[in-house]
Amino acid sequence: MPIMTNSLGLHFVALISILSAATVKGAEYDYYKYHPMEEIRNWMAQMVMDYPDVVTILDYGQTYEKRTISLLKIGLESEKRKKAIWMDCGIHAREWIAPAFCQYFVKQILQSYKTDTKIDTMMRNMDFYVTPVLNIDGYMYSWKDNTTRLWRKNRSPGPSGDCYGTDLNRNFDANWGTIGISFNCSSDIYCGSQPVSEPEAQAVTYFVGSRKDDILCFLTIHSYGQLLLVPYGHPNFTAPNYNELVNTAMHHCGHFL
Ligand SMILES: *[C@@H]1O[C@H](CO)[C@@H](O)[C@H](O)[C@H]1NC(C)=O
Ligand SMILES: *[C@@H]1O[C@H](CO)[C@@H](O)[C@H](O)[C@H]1NC(C)=O
Ligand SMILES: *[C@@H]1O[C@H](CO)[C@@H](O)[C@H](O)[C@H]1NC(C)=O
Repeated sequence: MPIMTNSLGLHFVALISILSAATVKGAEYDYYKYHPMEEIRNWMAQMVMDYPDVVTILDYGQTYEKRTISLLKIGLESEKRKKAIWMDCGIHAREWIAPAFCQYFVKQILQSYKTDTKIDTMMRNMDFYVTPVLNIDGYMYSWKDNTTRLWRKNRSPGPSGDCYGTDLNRNFDANWGTIGISFNCSSDIYCGSQPVSEPEAQAVTYFVGSRKDDILCFLTIHSYGQLLLVPYGHPNFTAPNYNELVNTAMHHCGHFL
């Protein structure tokens, strides 16, 4: 499961060990299959009902097609201002296992915090902001039929109206339009007409930007390859804590080698 950060230069914390720490309980929701968007929305509401003391839903934006973008805020209430970990899944529509992972992760921490002191401590000291599906329009389009299954981008029309979609993780205002992108709207790696042109990227930028002093870690979950990527993804710039990022990543990947 690759865990990547974007280019915000935030500290990296690997969470993989939590997953193996928790026990799997039988539940009605099937965590071992892919779910269409409507079921994922219902599942989010169910999490709030099942764990009202730790889970709330926050709506923080709208997609191009005017669907509400929501996240689960997970953490115990605290008098003091809490730090937070951001995790988004499903920025690339066709990478279906990423939303499935986010849901599985949420289930695991919620099922185990009462018995696992490490996770309980995390829940007391931090909040998790988990967006199971960020690119909702694209995700739903990838479920439409077998001609759209491999759709990756969002669904906004390009400048000339004869092509669709911006590759949302290439739309952020971080070395925008420099490398690993295309300015051709028909391309799967089209970066948009300008930085943060897309409503989905705006929603994340605003939500994270307005809380940047509190956010310890920014994780974005993909499934295109078996890679763990760290900032900045640019040949000429290195994150100030690059060594820490790589060491942390290698330490946790070590569990799987
Ligand atoms: C796609 O779906 C159509 C209609 O259900 C079916 O006839 C066709 O064989 C499918 N194509 C592939 C490549 O699966
Ligand atoms: C844009 O990309 C599409 C699809 O890859 C390609 O067919 C087209 O020729 C490209 N246009 C230009 C101007 O490069
Ligand atoms: C990185 O620096 C080299 C040397 O100055 C330059 O030629 C290249 O264009 C830079 N790369 C990017 C993506 O800015």
